[in-house]
Amino acid sequence: MIDVDQVRVLLKELGYTEEDIAILIEQVEHFDGEARERDAIVEEYLGKECIERIVGEIIAPINSRFRVKGELFVLDVGAGSGTFTSRVRDMLTGMGFNPYVYGLDISPGMLDALSRKGIVAVWGVADRIKESIRLNSRYLGLDVPDRFDVVMSTLAFHHFPDPLSVLRSIHSVLRIDGVAVIIGVLRHGYEALRDELKDVHLGFSVDEFSSYAREVFPLVDVEVLDGVYCRVSGYEVGLFKAVLRTI
Ligand SMILES: C[S@@+](CC[C@H](N)C(=O)[O-])C[C@H]1O[C@@H](n2cnc3c(N)ncnc32)[C@H](O)[C@@H]1O
Repeated sequence: MIDVDQVRVLLKELGYTEEDIAILIEQVEHFDGEARERDAIVEEYLGKECIERIVGEIIAPINSRFRVKGELFVLDVGAGSGTFTSRVRDMLTGMGFNPYVYGLDISPGMLDALSRKGIVAVWGVADRIKESIRLNSRYLGLDVPDRFDVVMSTLAFHHFPDPLSVLRSIHSVLRIDGVAVIIGVLRHGYEALRDELKDVHLGFSVDEFSSYAREVFPLVDVEVLDGVYCRVSGYEVGLFKAVLRTI
């Protein structure tokens, strides 16, 4: 497993400034500390029923996009401990797909948790996915494809400093006929969560996320996930789902 010092080296190699690195390392340290309990934390935030609902919401656009049940290359961006990644993989398998599932995360602790679930763990930064994949093959000996049929991301976008760059980065590794499914936190006013959860943004409104996405993807569908809430430290926040395609 790589450590935080190696992460700093890799971040420099990717061209980040010292200021960017400081922000990203804050995320690494926070999420390394959470990695072992992350599955339980997600369950506490959402409850089992909402987790299953979210998995269904991710599966639906994949299923309607890919009518032929063959190989499917799936990348989860900011995958964490793989709570959703592993469930999506298992459900796709149960439906007759042959999924190859990769989880990209900046936190070495989360990568460890992903590997334990049999998910290929890719160290990387969400706004430089392609470049991160190259580093994995050069320094970590990992053979990762640079195009995916599906890119998913759950509860992570509010941790990414520059969401528009992340959308461009996702677009750059998505096959032309692929689909990206993002589950994100709706805009809320709870400033306390910035510090407690290392949230960089207090979520996004549907209009805000749609306008970022339209700068990158021609086909954008963003909606509120009715009845799905994340309950954190006495606060309740809603979620949105974005389905993004090129054709
Ligand atoms: C709130 S967790 C969500 C994890 C998982 N997707 C889930 O739903 O449980 C956010 C994840 O994004 C990762 N992360 C934060 N900033 C990142 C970045 N710039 N690039 C890649 N991963 C990042 C963190 O390490 C963490 O695992």
